[in-house]
Amino acid sequence: MTVKEQVLGILEKNKGQAVSGAKMAQELGVSRNAVWKSIKELCAQGYSIASNGQKGYCLAEDNSIFSAQSVEAFLTRENLSVQIFEELDSTNRLAKQKGEEGAKEGLILIANRQTLGRGRKGKTFFSPNSGLYMTILLRPEIAAEDALLITTGAAVAVSQAIESVFKQECQIKWVNDIYIGGKKVCGILTEASLDFEAGGLSYAALGIGVNLSDPEGGFPEDIQNIAVSLKGQNACTAKEKSLLAAEICNRFFEIYDRLPQKTFMEEYRSRSYLIGKPINVLSPNSTRQAVALDVDENAHLLVEYPTEPVKLFLRAM
Ligand code: BTN
Repeated sequence: MTVKEQVLGILEKNKGQAVSGAKMAQELGVSRNAVWKSIKELCAQGYSIASNGQKGYCLAEDNSIFSAQSVEAFLTRENLSVQIFEELDSTNRLAKQKGEEGAKEGLILIANRQTLGRGRKGKTFFSPNSGLYMTILLRPEIAAEDALLITTGAAVAVSQAIESVFKQECQIKWVNDIYIGGKKVCGILTEASLDFEAGGLSYAALGIGVNLSDPEGGFPEDIQNIAVSLKGQNACTAKEKSLLAAEICNRFFEIYDRLPQKTFMEEYRSRSYLIGKPINVLSPNSTRQAVALDVDENAHLLVEYPTEPVKLFLRAM
């Protein structure tokens, strides 16, 4: 990490308060001149940093630039590292590559937009620059058949994070969509690599895409009636975006620590958008009408077909 990035990290953590150049220099093991040069570069980049004589440097409270440091300032857990990209094909694709290359658990990749955002079932995920697109690299010590718990745990974490930052009530549409007011605000896609010898996962890329604001020109026709954003026509501030990204991670890792205990599934169920609703069950040769009755602790959906006296558990595909 460069000195400039480290200085920014300290200023973001102390936003609105002055930190002396000498203190930063000592903490980073660099000269005061190196700190001063970094401050000058940050100001040239657009950061609003007041220099307050003896007291030091102060990043303005309302300073609004989304960065790895602005996210990290809100993270409550150690050993997470954030990387931000202006544009990527897919944060999941890159996270998988990093996973193959041996990157550690806790790497968080965020792109301001994606050109080939991936959705479930081989679909693309519309990813203009009005959203939050992030992937968390995990090295879970769980059995392969429990991998779905990563997605369901993340669905609970995202719901909690949205409610805490934006005060909007979230429901979960089985298995991986977050809904607000009956429309989709977030999709989650976990892609995992199996470790056949150990019978577990060598890594998992947990991808989360949230619609922050309405895209310029609106949502594409195929999703305009089913998609919604958190801020509608209003822009999302860098602070809100940073806080949301960090809160999703904070909440998710709380759940992840106890994933196999499945205690979060109670909340998953209570947030269910589908329970009690009629649904269409799609199979390769037919579409059948059913009613969603419940979600069990393995995230299987219990359905009942009105024409038959049987109840069936559906697995997420
Ligand atoms: C879905 O709704 O089908 C899942 C969408 C998952 C989208 C996210 S955006 C960040 C990450 N990178 C991707 O390419 N996909 C996931």
